[in-house]
Amino acid sequence: MATFEKSGKANPAAAVRHAHVIGWGMAVPETVMTNDDLSSFVDTSDDWIFARTGIRQRFIANEGESTATLAYRAAQHALEVADILPTDLDLIVVATATPENIFPSTASLVQDWLNAHEAGAFDLSAACSGFVYALNMASDSIRAGSINAALVIGAETMSRILDWQDRSTCILFGDGAGAVILRASETPGGVLSSVLRSDGSGGDLLAIPSVGSIDANESRAGANGSKLYKMSMAGSEVFKFATRVVSESVEQACQIAGVNVSDVNLVIPHQANLRILQAAARKLGIDIEKFMSNVERYGNTSAASIPIALCEAIEQRRIQDQDHIALVGFGGGLTWASMIIRWGISKPSEQHGSLLNRQRRHVQYRIAKWRSRSRRWRRRVNSKVRDLKA
Ligand code: COA
Repeated sequence: MATFEKSGKANPAAAVRHAHVIGWGMAVPETVMTNDDLSSFVDTSDDWIFARTGIRQRFIANEGESTATLAYRAAQHALEVADILPTDLDLIVVATATPENIFPSTASLVQDWLNAHEAGAFDLSAACSGFVYALNMASDSIRAGSINAALVIGAETMSRILDWQDRSTCILFGDGAGAVILRASETPGGVLSSVLRSDGSGGDLLAIPSVGSIDANESRAGANGSKLYKMSMAGSEVFKFATRVVSESVEQACQIAGVNVSDVNLVIPHQANLRILQAAARKLGIDIEKFMSNVERYGNTSAASIPIALCEAIEQRRIQDQDHIALVGFGGGLTWASMIIRWGISKPSEQHGSLLNRQRRHVQYRIAKWRSRSRRWRRRVNSKVRDLKA
């Protein structure tokens, strides 16, 4: 496999560049909430939820867990599989609708904790389509030659923005994170095509108002404050939108990649609702067996759902070398996005990682803590010295 050196050392014009997935990882909180647990505090039942959505349970972050801690754990697993060092990364993107802060970005926190001090970092907001958007941004940067290795994460703590009294939304979502590492290679394949779309006229169908919104102004004036940071959803409208765009955008992405829909080996869709996936599979004329689904165990983890499903598909050996994989996300915005990947380079059986690299990564994680603390400490001392001089 021909790869490129870290950015700055490579000659991007020297060869055609491709962006390949070389690592993957996921993390979910420890706590499981079943449908029966939910029905103990909201008027619903396991039968109703499972029949309408295919969901049986979801993972819920506890007090010590957050979007960034889940993202960090998923990133560490992805680095193990890729067997590269955090300092090899040029870019970290976290797709999330539940960021740790408005700023600093969740990506910057992960960058600091990993000791990925050669990487740029930012969060991307495209709701449940965010992971495919982020993968597109990173793979385009790799193919253009501006970076060589990127860590792309989808991470959410949806449980923190749900109205737990609203049975039409709180039953659907869960928490978790998934990550992949993309790297430049001369080997053809990897990300072949992407389709990104938005229809802002449907923004009100699925929304979480935040600090910059009209609702925030009203809340400052003492009215309507309860809307802030709470999800609202027009379920049946979103359902219709989702079934339409999944099939349309997968077809478009296939066309751009020069791949027949019938040649797609596995579709890894955003895990919102099993019935949406069944309807989309029918429209596409693809056997539902070719649709990866794990919504039963995780619920809808928004931007994290596609990378989590990807990890499980790999673990279950549902992806083989040279397979064509379709990723498709949809959600708030409204947004939707599809991508075709020709799988290559790394086979799960080869993913053991060298012992030396594993040790070097662990040293870097330890260094990260000290580096971060010492930098903060130095800043404080410097500012004290400046105050004394003033
Ligand atoms: N438990 C029991 N009953 C419930 C319920 C729950 N959790 N939620 C709603 N109901 C009731 C409603 O009150 C309604 O009762 P009524 O007929 O007496 O008024 C009835 O069930 C039907 O409600 P409706 O909203 O029409 O159900 P639905 O078949 O559309 O299913 C969703 C609701 C939310 C499961 C479905 O619309 C959906 O999955 N939409 C897509 C949502 C989604 O995926 N969003 C994220 C996209 S990224």
